[in-house]
Amino acid sequence: METSEMELTSHFATFAFLFLCLIPQAIADLNSDKQALLQFSARVPHGRKLNWSPAIPACMSWIGIYCTHDGSRVIGLHLPCVGLHGPIPSNTLGKLDALTILSLRSNRLSGILPSDVLSLPSLRYVNLQHNNFSGHIPSSLSPNLDFLDLSFNSLTGTIPTTVQNLTNLTGLNFQNNSLTGHIPNLNLPRLRLYNLSFNDLNGTIPSSLNKFPASSFLGNHICGPPLNQCLIINPPFPSPTHFSPSTLPRNTERTAMLALHRREKFKE
Ligand SMILES: *[C@@H]1O[C@H](CO)[C@@H](O)[C@H](O)[C@H]1NC(C)=O
Ligand SMILES: *[C@@H]1O[C@H](CO)[C@@H](O)[C@H](O)[C@H]1NC(C)=O
Ligand SMILES: *[C@@H]1O[C@H](CO)[C@@H](O)[C@H](O)[C@H]1NC(C)=O
Ligand SMILES: *[C@@H]1O[C@H](CO)[C@@H](O)[C@H](O)[C@H]1NC(C)=O
Ligand SMILES: *[C@@H]1O[C@H](CO)[C@@H](O)[C@H](O)[C@H]1NC(C)=O
Ligand SMILES: *[C@@H]1O[C@H](CO)[C@@H](O)[C@H](O)[C@H]1NC(C)=O
Repeated sequence: METSEMELTSHFATFAFLFLCLIPQAIADLNSDKQALLQFSARVPHGRKLNWSPAIPACMSWIGIYCTHDGSRVIGLHLPCVGLHGPIPSNTLGKLDALTILSLRSNRLSGILPSDVLSLPSLRYVNLQHNNFSGHIPSSLSPNLDFLDLSFNSLTGTIPTTVQNLTNLTGLNFQNNSLTGHIPNLNLPRLRLYNLSFNDLNGTIPSSLNKFPASSFLGNHICGPPLNQCLIINPPFPSPTHFSPSTLPRNTERTAMLALHRREKFKE
């Protein structure tokens, strides 16, 4: 008898715990999302005023905020062209751990790309084009990304090889930055939009990426299809004493000229 009474009490306690704690949990999560957003707006100057006030319901009224159907979490932040200025402080947007969509394109955000944001596992769509972010692309990226646009910034360093593991990626746009190094091989079946034009990349285009048009690779120091064949200096040229243009096989001469022509074009 005693045991079963205790069991009953314990079941009731569990029920009371679930009732009292789980429902307010959703409110706690939304409150934490709101705090993170208020921190962000307090610390990042912006030209256009945001109506984000603790006094009005965030999910229904705050500009640029999208929530789950039940209004329990913030899942989207969409603030293009509002004059956001300066770096994104860590521990602000990086705390929005239900965030799926992040679009802050066409602002004046700068500094490094915050790794606590791009690594949020919930993130699927990121558009940060036309800002002035600098430094490297963080290697820790959400494995669920399906669209990543970092074009028209001032990013340097290499393309992180972790993009190779973004199996859901359909679009990757890094055009008009200052990225260096080689292009990583990418076997991503869903990838449709791919643009690395106008960076400082070098080396050969991996064969897995040959299917993309030449316009995906313009303005770099790279070769191989869909651009010109790479200049292969093998077998070795005749020794300089016997060298004359006529000793070059026709194909090699033509390839060398094409390569030179390309190099000149890039200097413009
Ligand atoms: C972008 O940032 C770089 C430094 O990271 C700076 O030299 C450059 O002037 C900035 N460009 C604009 C348009 O603000
Ligand atoms: C990719 O997308 C599918 C379908 O939308 C989803 O189930 C999966 O969790 C996503 N992430 C990865 C890493 O495949
Ligand atoms: C990709 O994922 C595999 C399996 O999880 C892991 O072993 C590998 O190190 C990852 N590669 C990169 C470049 O992150
Ligand atoms: C992209 O970069 C190229 C080369 O630097 C430049 O000619 C072009 O104007 C840039 N595009 C934009 C929209 O800034
Ligand atoms: C390619 O770029 C990297 C980084 O800028 C550099 O270290 C390397 O020497 C370059 N390779 C060639 C063949 O130009
Ligand atoms: C890539 O970007 C360049 C430069 O802005 C543009 O000319 C080209 O059409 C784009 N290509 C693709 C495939 O998006």
